Amino acid sequence: MKSRLVEKFRVNFGRAPEFIARAPGRIEFIGNHTDYNGGPVLGAAIDRQVWVALARRAGGERRFGSDQRGELVTRPADRVEKLSGAQSWVNYPLGVLGALPAFGLRAPAGFDYFALSDLPPGAGLSSSAAIELASALVFLAAAGENPPRETLVKIGRQAENDFVGVPCGILDQGVSGFGKKDHLVFIDCRGPHFATVPLPGDARFWIFNTHTKHALVDGLYAERHRECLEAAQGLGVGLLAEVSPAAVLAAEKKLSPPVFRRARHIVEEIARVDTTVKALRAGDLAAVGQLLNASHRSSQTLFENSTPELDFLAETLAATPHVYGARLTGGGFGGAVMALTAESFGAFQARAVAAAYAKTFGAAPDILQAQTGDGATLVPV
Ligand code: GLA
Repeated sequence: MKSRLVEKFRVNFGRAPEFIARAPGRIEFIGNHTDYNGGPVLGAAIDRQVWVALARRAGGERRFGSDQRGELVTRPADRVEKLSGAQSWVNYPLGVLGALPAFGLRAPAGFDYFALSDLPPGAGLSSSAAIELASALVFLAAAGENPPRETLVKIGRQAENDFVGVPCGILDQGVSGFGKKDHLVFIDCRGPHFATVPLPGDARFWIFNTHTKHALVDGLYAERHRECLEAAQGLGVGLLAEVSPAAVLAAEKKLSPPVFRRARHIVEEIARVDTTVKALRAGDLAAVGQLLNASHRSSQTLFENSTPELDFLAETLAATPHVYGARLTGGGFGGAVMALTAESFGAFQARAVAAAYAKTFGAAPDILQAQTGDGATLVPV
């Protein structure tokens, strides 16, 4: 990837880059919609990434290129304005540039920038967090800044929330920033505090991307966010992470039926994340798999962010030999299902699941086998 990036940079800008960074995509392992409720979440950085190269240039221009789009996008260095249409991918690096002053950090003025990725966009693997973090690393290096990793993660999230306009929590950027090979990232979102949990050696990840997306997915994510806040308010707390599952069950009458279901999902999911950490530490992948299956059922029935396509995959996978468990990963309302499998689960079994899906829904999902990978980092040029 690195030599391809340097080559592309040379072809587009006629010189070598000064700084290179890479940042991984992520799998949401368990903890569905817990992050913005102040709960814990477990994710894995994967071995697919976004790579970014940058060289400073005199004059007031910033030129952005990417292997996914033909045209270079040129912007003035003294203004950060949102773009639309084919140029809208530049909003991720622009959002990062716009966020830096709020953290007391300088941004580079003029530069040439090129992004390259082997992370499929729109697959529920957070290519957006990856481009945000890789961009932040090269911008900061070019400006002579070196903030702590936690700040890097927060810059990415702020770019996404305030500039791109997605009200996400800290999961995606946190996992891309703190990923570690053969580990899961544990985030206590209230701090936020970041830690890693070793993943037992036999564990493998398979991702089945349905390429389905609910037409209202952005609006539905925001609606769930609002419902969770309404539930917290009804229960007299700031965030749902502050209430126990028992307290939510006891307060059913205080909430409207859908808002009660959302709250119940969140507090029970929070408990599942904690139980999952214990099962991982005990090396009990069978127990972890059951928790993943339970998480999916809760998304299906209580949080109502699953779809028939995701349910089919999660149920078929859960019933397939050598699969520990499966669940939707990410925001939901379409997107992808991840399966935690033993090493003995292979492409043959994965294709059988995809074929069964195709029989029911007409088109096969994309299959991606992922390994865990390390978090975002600068790479020597
Ligand atoms: C999306 C968001 C995350 C998180 C998940 C649901 O991936 O970007 O912050 O809320 O949905 O758990």
